[in-house]
Amino acid sequence: MIITIDGPAAAGKGTLASSLAKKYHLAYFDTGMIYRAVGLEIRLSGQDINNENIAESYAKSLTFPKMMELAKDVRLRDDIGGKYASIVAAQPKVRAALLKMQQDFALNPVYADGSKAQGAIYDGRDTGTVVCPHADVKFYVTASAEVRAQRRYKEFCEKGMNISYEQVLADVKARDERDQNRSSAPLKPAADAIILDTSELSIAEVLAQAEKIIAEHKKTLEK
Ligand code: C5P
Repeated sequence: MIITIDGPAAAGKGTLASSLAKKYHLAYFDTGMIYRAVGLEIRLSGQDINNENIAESYAKSLTFPKMMELAKDVRLRDDIGGKYASIVAAQPKVRAALLKMQQDFALNPVYADGSKAQGAIYDGRDTGTVVCPHADVKFYVTASAEVRAQRRYKEFCEKGMNISYEQVLADVKARDERDQNRSSAPLKPAADAIILDTSELSIAEVLAQAEKIIAEHKKTLEK
């Protein structure tokens, strides 16, 4: 089974994806990490984040082990990390260079320890539209910008980061703008995606809705 979960930053995709991965024994691919990894490599090198050719060369040489190494750096997940990821993600050459790596994962899904899985769950922006257009179940998880900024702000505060709510909200809105209006694979729901608005729902409620939809999908396969 292949499941895709797309949607804007901090909508609850990661929480939903990791719960569903556990429940259905799926290998989890957080595709935002690949763009964050490319952004971080450029940041560490001190080169220009807006230079598409430089970003493309880092994208072409990205591997899963390299990504795991970069994930140890807290800067991968900070606010600049998110901003840099969305800048390189808007560069068509970078997206093209990272597509095969993402599609190959569906053919050969593996858990973090390298062992084989029977299926995969993707979390990203274009996984239902571009990466896995033939996925079994597609979700588009969203929430208002204010609710998402509040969640991100709480996360940053818990990590001891010094940032204001207003700054987080401005960053969320700027990322939405870049993700939705880029020319290559803009953020939008796939035509056959199920929309889950998490603004007013608890994590348990979102999970219950998603599990119901997956159960219905499994039933139609059995018919
Ligand atoms: O999901 P996360 O916040 O880690 O993603 C970081 C950035 O990577 C997003 O803002 C988006 O610009 C980009 N991204 C993307 N396509 C994906 C996953 C992430 O463009 N499939």
